[in-house]
Amino acid sequence: MDKHAHDSFPLKAEISGGMHKPRAHDSAHKHVSGTAEYIDDIPEPAGLLHIGLGLSERAHAEISDIDLSDVEAADGVICVLSSKDIPGVNDIASNGSGDEPLFAEDKIEYHGQIIFAVVAETRAQAREAARLAKITYRDLPHWTSVRDALANDAPNVVKPMTLQRGNASSALEAAKHRITAEMDVGGQEHFYLESQIALAIPGEDDDVSIWSSTQHPSEVQHIVGHVLNIPSHAITVYQRRMGGGFGGKETQGNCFAAMAALAAKKLNRAIKVRPDRDEDMIITGKRHDLVAFYDLGFDDDGMIEAVDTTFAARCGWSSDLSGPVTDRTLFHADSSYYFPNVHLTSRPLKTHTCSNTAYRGFGGPQGMIVGERLIEEIAYALGKDPLDIRKANFYGPNGSGREVTPYHQTVEDNILLPIVEGLEKSADYRARREAIKEFNTRSPVIKKGIALTPVKFGISFTMTAFNQGGALVHVYQDGSVQLNHGGTEMGQGLYTKVSQVVADVFQIDLERVKITATTTGKVPNTSATAASSGTDLNGAAAYNAATQIKKRLIAFAAENWNVEPSEIKFLPNRVRIGEQEIPFPDLIKAAYLARIQLSAAGFYKTPKIHWDREKGRGRPFYYFAYGAACTEVSIDTLTGEYQIDRTDILHDVGRSLNPAIDIGQIEGGFVQGMGWLTTEELWWDDKGRLRTHAPSTYKIPLASDRPKIFNVALADFSVNREETIGRSKAVGEPPFMLAISVIEAISMAVASVADYRFCPRLDAPATPERVLMAVERMKRA
Ligand code: MTE
Ligand code: MOS
Repeated sequence: MDKHAHDSFPLKAEISGGMHKPRAHDSAHKHVSGTAEYIDDIPEPAGLLHIGLGLSERAHAEISDIDLSDVEAADGVICVLSSKDIPGVNDIASNGSGDEPLFAEDKIEYHGQIIFAVVAETRAQAREAARLAKITYRDLPHWTSVRDALANDAPNVVKPMTLQRGNASSALEAAKHRITAEMDVGGQEHFYLESQIALAIPGEDDDVSIWSSTQHPSEVQHIVGHVLNIPSHAITVYQRRMGGGFGGKETQGNCFAAMAALAAKKLNRAIKVRPDRDEDMIITGKRHDLVAFYDLGFDDDGMIEAVDTTFAARCGWSSDLSGPVTDRTLFHADSSYYFPNVHLTSRPLKTHTCSNTAYRGFGGPQGMIVGERLIEEIAYALGKDPLDIRKANFYGPNGSGREVTPYHQTVEDNILLPIVEGLEKSADYRARREAIKEFNTRSPVIKKGIALTPVKFGISFTMTAFNQGGALVHVYQDGSVQLNHGGTEMGQGLYTKVSQVVADVFQIDLERVKITATTTGKVPNTSATAASSGTDLNGAAAYNAATQIKKRLIAFAAENWNVEPSEIKFLPNRVRIGEQEIPFPDLIKAAYLARIQLSAAGFYKTPKIHWDREKGRGRPFYYFAYGAACTEVSIDTLTGEYQIDRTDILHDVGRSLNPAIDIGQIEGGFVQGMGWLTTEELWWDDKGRLRTHAPSTYKIPLASDRPKIFNVALADFSVNREETIGRSKAVGEPPFMLAISVIEAISMAVASVADYRFCPRLDAPATPERVLMAVERMKRA
C-alpha cells in the first residue's frame, strides 16, 4: 500500500457502524438462535459419502500385518483408503519438513495415529466398519511425557533456539541470592465447539472444492495439491466461520481436508469427514505442556541479575508448529521484566503423542507463567509483596538502559506502569491484600489470596513473510458493498471489525457492507488467521482496497461536477460535492455509467519487522499489547477446592476498533486461560493412550466457574504508537495470559498456611488435588 494511504488511517469516524464503534458481532443473533451455518449445516449434496477413521492402537510400533478385508466387506462400505492410494505425496506437514504422513505407512508414532479411512454410505456405517481392521503390531519403546523424553534422550523435532545477553553463568555465580528449581506447566485441549470437519466436492478435470473448518484456507489448498499431485489453481477452499479455532485449526484440519479431497477425486462423489469429539481429541494436537528448569539470581532489593532457563516441551510425533511455538515461549520468558544477564534455551522434544500445535498465545503463556514464577520466588524469599518486585523489575523507559529484551528488540511502547498502577488503584489492591492477610489469620480452613499480574505480548508472526494480508472489495451499482479478505472468522469478530473499516472509508451504514466467506479463489496466498494479527493485516488490506475505490470516486466526481477534489466529502450515506449533497448510491450509479472501476484488490505488509533466528536477534514484533489483571480467590485447605471471588482487568487494545468485541475477547481469553491453569488436565496412560478425551474426564470452565465479580476495562488512554489500522492493537491472544493472576492468587492462599515464608511452587494446572498437596507441603514446611 502506498505511504500516503497508510498515513491517513482515519482517527475519527462519523458513521455509526464505522471504526471505534461498539457494534455487535455480525453473527451474534445467528449464534444464539442456532441459525449460523457451520459446515455440517450446509445442505448435503446428492450422493454424499462419509469417512470413518482407522486409528492406531499402539504408541510406537511397526505394523507387521494389516488385514482390512472385514472392513471392506462391511455394510455400506464403498472403499478403504490408505497410503497406497495417494497419487501425490503422503505428507501433510505444514512446515515443509515432510515429517507428517497423512496415513501411517509401516511405522506408528502415537496412539491414535490415522492408518486408513473407510468411505461408506453413512457415517455410522463408516465408523462401524473402521473398527473391523485386524492389525498386528511389533511394539517399539515409547515415551509420552517431557521427563520420560529427557530420560530417553529424545531427539528435538526442530533445532532448539537460544536467546542470550550478557553472561548469565558468571552473574548467577556472583548473585547474592540464587534459586534453582523447576516448574511443570500443563497443556490444553482446544475444545472448539465445532469439531474438525471437511466437505469435498469434486469438479471436472482436476478441480475440487473444499469446505474446511480451518484458520488457514491457503494452506489447506497447498496441502491438498501436494497430496493429490494437482496444481493449486484446481483447488478452491471455502471457510465462512469456525465454531472456534483457538489455534487448533491452524494446521490440524489439514488431514481431514486432504482425505476428503482424496476420496472425492477417487470416487467422483461428494465426501464429508467429521470425527466425533473423542476422535478429534485423540488425533489432534494441543497446547504444548513443558517443564521449565530455571536458575535465578537476584539482589537484596529483589532486582533480577541473571536468569538461565531451559524449556523442555512435549511436541509430539511431528514437528508441526513446535519450532515457532517454543520460540515464542522464549520470547515471552521475560514476561514484563528486564533480565540484565540471560540465557534461554528450548528443548522441542519428540514424544509418542499427538503433535502439539498452536493454542492461543502460541507458546507465549508457557514462557510468561515461568517469568512470573521467578517474581514469586523473589517475593517469598525476601518476604515482600510480589507486586513491588514486579514493578521494580519492569522494563524501563527509553534511555533507562533497561529496555532491551533477550532477543535484542527495544521495548519502545512501554505502558506497563500506567496500566498496572491504574489497576492497582481501581481494584484497590493494597487495601484488599491487607484485609486478606488479616482474614487469613482468623480463618482456619478457608484461606484467601490476591495477585496482580501484568501482560506484555509481542504482536506479529515471527516468520516475517507471514505478516501480509489481502482483500477484495466490490461496490455494486446499488451502492452495496461486498467485502472479502484473507482472514477467517472463528468467533473473534474479525469480519465485523474489517466491515467497520470499509463502512468507515465510504461512510456508509454497516448493513451496506456484506462480508463473504473467505476463499482462496478471491484472495490468494493468505496467512493463517493467527498470532492475533487478523485485524491488523486484513483490516489494513481492506482499508487499502476501499481507499483505492474512494480515490477513483473522488477523481470522477471532481471531473464530472467540475469541483476541486478538496470540495468532495464523504458524509454518512451521502457525498458532498461542492455545494450539493447526493446519496452514496447515486454517486456509485453515476460512476458506473462513466465506466469507473468499482472493484479493487488491497494489500498490506507489516513494516519494520525482521528476525534472525540463528543469531537470536532482531525486531520480531511490530509492537506490544499490554494488560493487567487482579484476581482474588478462596481455597478450602481441607479439600483443595477453590473459587474465584473477583477479577479486575485493565487491558490495552490501543484505540479500540470495536470496544464491545474487544471486551468479549478479553473476558473469553481470561476464562480460557483460567481453565488452562486450574481444571483442564490432560492425562496419557502408560500405553500412551489419552484418557482425557471427552468432557466427562476433561474439565473446561463452566459459566459458574467465572469470577463472581468480573470488572473489565479498556485502557482508553492507549493509542498504538505504530501506524496500525485506526491505531488499534491486536486483542485475540494477549488477554489469555491475564489468567496468570488466578494461579498466583491461589498460590498466595496456599502460602498463607506457612505464613508466606515459602514459595508454594504450584505447578499448572492447579487442580484441587495439586492445591491440596501444596497445602500439605506448606503445613509440613
Ligand atoms: N475468539 C473466539 N471466539 N474463537 C477463537 O477461536 N481464537 C483466538 C483469538 N480469539 C479465537 C478467539 C486465537 S488463538 C487467535 S490467534 C485470534 O483470535 C485470531 O483472530 P484475530 O487475529 O482476528 O484476533
Ligand atoms: Mo492463534 S494460537 O495464533 O491461532
